[in-house]
Amino acid sequence: MKKVITYGTFDLFHYGHLKILERAKSFGDYLIVAVSSDEFNDIKGKKCTYPFEHRAEIVKAIKFVDEVIREDAWEQKTEDIKKHKIDVFVMGNDWKGKFDFLKDFCRVEYLPRTPNISTTEIKENIQNLHRA
Ligand code: CTP
Repeated sequence: MKKVITYGTFDLFHYGHLKILERAKSFGDYLIVAVSSDEFNDIKGKKCTYPFEHRAEIVKAIKFVDEVIREDAWEQKTEDIKKHKIDVFVMGNDWKGKFDFLKDFCRVEYLPRTPNISTTEIKENIQNLHRA
């Protein structure tokens, strides 16, 4: 069985999130998604609308996703890949090159982002609607 892993915050789950999970799953048979915890978002300086438990449950309900784990630190990726016997690591190409060190342990794939959608953009659009 080929195992795939990807990482993300997945706040205000949207079409771009769905598409990356679909494409990630197509690289194997079993997809693990590491969802960043609220504590890790604090470290990254990222403010989320939904708490970790909600983001994790939504991601887990997506049919391409087999398992959700927590992401608590930048350094856990190598450990996760070894522990879960991962074959393919997938990230959006906004991270291109950043995780090439993982090639020592598995295949590394950077996928193009779905154009014109992001959590940040959704938040801005909603603010603009209220201003209009
Ligand atoms: N992603 C994607 N296409 C998009 C938005 C996100 O493929 N339009 C991917 C990212 O590359 C990442 C995963 O979805 O691999 C989770 O991204 P996340 O940072 O949670 O979502 P964003 O919408 O990019 O959030 P933000 O605007 O807060 O950065």
